[in-house]
Amino acid sequence: MPTPSSSAGGTRTAGGALVVEQLSFQVGGIHILSDVDLDVRPGEMIGVIGPNGAGKTTLFNMISGVHRATAGRVLLDGADITHAPIHRRAQAGLGRTFQTSSLFAGLSVLENVRLAAQRRLGGNLSFLRFPRRGDEATTTALGHLEDVDLAHRADVLAGGLSHGDKRKLEIAVLLAMEPSVILLDEPMAGVARADVPGLSDVIRRLHRDHACTVLMVEHHIDVVLGLVERVAVLDQGRVLAFDDPATIMADPRVQSAYLGTAA
Ligand SMILES: Nc1ncnc2c1ncn2[C@@H]1O[C@H](COP(=O)(O)OP(=O)(O)OP(=O)(O)O)[C@@H](O)[C@H]1O
Ligand SMILES: [Mg+2]
Repeated sequence: MPTPSSSAGGTRTAGGALVVEQLSFQVGGIHILSDVDLDVRPGEMIGVIGPNGAGKTTLFNMISGVHRATAGRVLLDGADITHAPIHRRAQAGLGRTFQTSSLFAGLSVLENVRLAAQRRLGGNLSFLRFPRRGDEATTTALGHLEDVDLAHRADVLAGGLSHGDKRKLEIAVLLAMEPSVILLDEPMAGVARADVPGLSDVIRRLHRDHACTVLMVEHHIDVVLGLVERVAVLDQGRVLAFDDPATIMADPRVQSAYLGTAA
């Protein structure tokens, strides 16, 4: 079981049980997701894989509230959040990154994390323009930058970071919101091959040190298999299999639907 974080502002009790029941999404009569069931334990890290267009991002959109499910339920620590607005889900502990970057390119690395920390702490956002190193949000933000190996880049503009460092910064921003469940949508997308191990290590530590439940969509199968405890395979909007990595790799249905086509 992961232990609670000891980094600045990150200490909290473990939680983050995420249950998706019979979740479906239709647009114009087309079934994008059909009867998706997932039962993710608190502190578990799972991978979500599947071919392009399988519905992985749509699933994350429905869990985080970007889209509303047409049927089924989403439960976070037992509470039904199926129809809750995005900000309520975030308050309940749900955090996500997007397939494309959502950082403030014109703000510094530190300011991006500070903004999230300030919002979480419920203080006055005017601090943002004149950050003082000693205030609570800044201390929290610097702690999270250390968590993702970016403290040395605190004062550079976020827009000037490499893809790999932007992904790390997005994770630091998420940590500042103290989520119990984190959804990462293709964290390795666009990242230089040489930066993949460092980013994988940050994700491993984020899971271990912050007692977060992590769901990760990722096309780099080797990365997924090396990080997660269970893998959900989506194919044409349905869960084809949800099991430990070894069982998934040996499943002939998975090989023909996904791994075979990816080779
Ligand atoms: N709001 C929407 N309206 C219509 N079609 C949609 C909508 N959202 C998603 N789709 C369609 O649903 C299917 C699943 O899309 P989704 O983005 O979830 O796939 P994905 O598994 O994340 O793919 P990728 O690996 O390419 O990111 C696609 O065919 C997409 O075009
Ligand atoms: Mg996607």
